[in-house]
Amino acid sequence: MKLKTIALVTMIPAAFFAGQYLSKLSAAKAPPTTSQVTASYGGSGSQGATAASAKKSVITAKWEGKVHKVEAGQTIMDAVKAANPGDTIQVMPGEYHETVYIDKNNIRLQGVIIEGKRPTLHGDGRLNDAILYSGNNIVVENFLITKFKGNGIMGQAGNNFEIRNNIIVDTGVYGIFPQLGDNGIIEHNIVSGIEDAAIYVGMSDHIHVANNEVFDSVAGIEIENSRHAIVENNFVHNNTGGILTFVTPGLPIKDTYDVIIRNNWLANNNTKNFGAPGSMVSGIPAGTGILIMAADEVIVEDNLIVGNKTAGIIITDHQNAPNTTLDPESDPFPDKVMLLNNLMYNNGYETIDEAKVLMATELKQGSPDIVRVGTSNDSCILNRHQYVTVGVSDWAECSFSNTDNIVSYLLDTPAEPRVVNVKDKGKAAYLGICTGCHAYTGRLIGPPVQIIQTLYIDNPQGLADFIAAPVKKREDFPAMPKQDYLDAETRLAVAEYMLSLTK
Ligand code: HEC
Repeated sequence: MKLKTIALVTMIPAAFFAGQYLSKLSAAKAPPTTSQVTASYGGSGSQGATAASAKKSVITAKWEGKVHKVEAGQTIMDAVKAANPGDTIQVMPGEYHETVYIDKNNIRLQGVIIEGKRPTLHGDGRLNDAILYSGNNIVVENFLITKFKGNGIMGQAGNNFEIRNNIIVDTGVYGIFPQLGDNGIIEHNIVSGIEDAAIYVGMSDHIHVANNEVFDSVAGIEIENSRHAIVENNFVHNNTGGILTFVTPGLPIKDTYDVIIRNNWLANNNTKNFGAPGSMVSGIPAGTGILIMAADEVIVEDNLIVGNKTAGIIITDHQNAPNTTLDPESDPFPDKVMLLNNLMYNNGYETIDEAKVLMATELKQGSPDIVRVGTSNDSCILNRHQYVTVGVSDWAECSFSNTDNIVSYLLDTPAEPRVVNVKDKGKAAYLGICTGCHAYTGRLIGPPVQIIQTLYIDNPQGLADFIAAPVKKREDFPAMPKQDYLDAETRLAVAEYMLSLTK
């Protein structure tokens, strides 16, 4: 008996190591990929787990195309040019100094992580964007992105996207920024050191932002001019403002509604605001946990909101928000805000004067967890006695207590790909790129379109030339990043489109 046991014990490690050795050999030929195993842990009992789980993919493509392997020293763009829809581009660890622009559909851009080493996109403080995509059904995963000036990962009018497991550090204005996308997942990313929003969902629908860590940025997670979004299970700390849901006036999509913010941990978002002067986020008071501005049907549930010195949750209309120009086509009020149970502690201990004045008028003392300024219609709050509040005394008690029935807002069948013909290219580029920094009226990162129109109204070619090679013009604005990755035809088309706008 005894001998037999010993033999078994020694055989198991031997087999184990042999297996490892073999898998190492094969790894040398084909890089490791994301595991295709889909079974779930069934628990120790005889019954399998049946709980509904969130959707893990919004793309039905099987990735049966070619695999293009990119080694350090090669460029990712060469692989993108060679790739066809359905292909996977696998990027091996190493440093890559380039902007990757994907204007094809069904492409999976996949970093290969080996012993913790990731492929790194390094912008040298010189390049504007790391990854830009305008295709539909795009996956971007497993990269380390650092030292770009504009965007880490930006989507322009691409539907069905998955952005996951990336680390984005000290990278300009936006970390992850899908714009005008329908049906997308942003999960398991770590984003820090961003001077506007670490994760910025702009003018998009059916979005799931989950399990990310965002910190040391001006805005942590922003859901802006977007609809049907869930933000859950994120760790949002040490930003100026944690999670924001907004309507930015002057953009082509005029509203934000149906947003669930749940199960996030929002801690110590007290970082001094370092947003570009005059930009909308530069008006966020340091110490804001959640900010709801002019967005409707926002549910805030089961978050842990601690140590945010201005307030745990601020609800405001456009009139009371700094750096905001009113848009006659946007409803300025945050209506149907629903605050369910949240754990709030140690917020508002160094709050802003506006909140202090409101507290005084309500004869309240203490540090506010929840501050509402301006008008908000049909809003409700559950168990308000849990918090120190100001401005919500007249809100109704909510008639429900959880959002358990809503697992996700992602679509059951992928969104139809956007078809962009040549004629529409200018419009798509304008909406996808320029609106990130230019609004029709009012200042964003760049000057308003109205001003640009007075300069270039009879000179679209001049405008097109400027964006290909911008020179610094204004003292009080940063330099505009060059848009030379757009071809000449698209540059002229976007110039003509920008000059034709009337609102
Ligand atoms: C990352 C932000 C950003 C993006 C994206 C951006 N711009 Fe700008 N743009 C700026 C800034 C900042 C300025 C002001 C630069 C200055 O005055 O030096 C500017 C200025 C301009 C000007 C004024 C030029 C002049 O002669 O005064 C034009 C025209 C312009 N942008 C067009 C565009 C177009 C078209 C797009 C989209 C293809 C675009 N911009 C995308 C930030 C941006």
